[in-house]
Amino acid sequence: ILIGLVGSEMCIRDRKYFIVSVCFMKRSSPVKVMTVFGTRPEAIKMAPVVQSLLAHPEIETKVCLTAQHREMLDQVVDLFKLPVDYDLDIMRSGQSLYDITSRVLRGLEEVLEKEKPDYVLVHGDTTTTFTASLAAFYKQIKVGHVEAGLRTGDLASPFPEEANRQLTGVLASLHFAPTETARGNLLRENKKDENIFVVGNTVIDALLSTVKKDYTFEDEEIQAIEEHKRVILVTTHRRENLGAPMHHVYRALRRLVETVPDTEVVFPVHRNPLVREAVEEELDGAAGIHLVEPMEYEPFTNLMARSALVLTDSGGIQEEAPSLGKPVLVLRDTTERPEAVKAGTVKLVGTGEEKIYQTAYRLLTDEAAYHAMAEAVNPYGDGRSAGRIVETLLYAEGISHKKPSKFIAK
Ligand code: UD1
Ligand code: UDP
Repeated sequence: ILIGLVGSEMCIRDRKYFIVSVCFMKRSSPVKVMTVFGTRPEAIKMAPVVQSLLAHPEIETKVCLTAQHREMLDQVVDLFKLPVDYDLDIMRSGQSLYDITSRVLRGLEEVLEKEKPDYVLVHGDTTTTFTASLAAFYKQIKVGHVEAGLRTGDLASPFPEEANRQLTGVLASLHFAPTETARGNLLRENKKDENIFVVGNTVIDALLSTVKKDYTFEDEEIQAIEEHKRVILVTTHRRENLGAPMHHVYRALRRLVETVPDTEVVFPVHRNPLVREAVEEELDGAAGIHLVEPMEYEPFTNLMARSALVLTDSGGIQEEAPSLGKPVLVLRDTTERPEAVKAGTVKLVGTGEEKIYQTAYRLLTDEAAYHAMAEAVNPYGDGRSAGRIVETLLYAEGISHKKPSKFIAK
């Protein structure tokens, strides 16, 4: 932007005043914003941001997929009809962290060199998130971090996500914190207050656009679950839970459906071959347990809305389920999302078989205990987070003088 000072003299009651006007001249070219994402949750949470960026003519929007995930990413890109400019297509079966990091870094060098965006927007805490931030930093491109400031403070949990988000925070110049708690974490790391914007979590934007009343499931197996049955929705994928912890979780599940009447488990199984191996060993053929492929986002959120209880080690589901009033047992020892724990809809139960079984059994057999947890709360968003992120970018670039609004949890 160019700033011009225009001065003029004025005389009021024999006193001379010098009037200074400041005129902002808007930049003549649009701001170029490239969003980079690669996994299912990043795509779900970036979709509303991309849609909001595209609605602003002052912004030139570019979308680059790393495709750290393939099928699970494509499901989301198709659902939200996201226009893709670049696809690095890096996924390999059983990929290591070294594979993802090196392929994304190399792939982005060329893309960033060619496009020279003003901003790269990244989301959350995956290896794509950190590596894309690093690639942008090497080209001195500003990084905007969406879902900034989540912390457990323990680099081992979740692994490697806690390191990914801390490292991204170091490289970012704009931090889009979902909540006041996240803002506080960033301030404690000496991030400047004027670079932190509390906008809510864009996952609630996505959720509100997909959950519908009286939804009919295309999947016949799910549609056929009788109305009086209580659905326990399960997902697992965390790297630190691979191996023995996952086996313990699955044994608890099996005991649950065997001992609590009128319950059925629906378990969309993550495509990680190590998750599939453990699921096959423990749950294949178990009565009352539906093992299905990763579900498309719309049926998945609608199934969550129809469920009685959610058991998961996912991050995003901890944010969505409380907004639908669904109790969540988190299959982890730590969480970077303390808000819903405080509100009472989320409980950390770890990965021990007995604790999971006992906690879930009580919830499903004691009405008072269930109702105490099943209160809909919205600590994470109001469905307007993507709009706030775009307002902030326009404000930061001097295109708009309107201060971006803040998300206030109710
Ligand atoms: C990744 C992220 C994690 C995020 C999760 C969301 C890292 C290190 N991990 O974990 O933070 O919570 O995504 O789900 O960034 N696969 C497929 N098809 C797919 C997706 C995965 O076949 O569409 C298989 C592949 O064999 C792949 C493996 O799953 O190698 C693991 O994928 P990866 O992205 O490395 O790890 P996730 O556990 O999915
Ligand atoms: N999800 C989905 N289909 C599924 C399971 C999950 O669309 O079969 C969505 C879910 O609603 C949430 C996101 O995927 O928005 C969470 O992704 P995941 O658990 O893989 O990653 P995390 O949030 O832990 O990073």
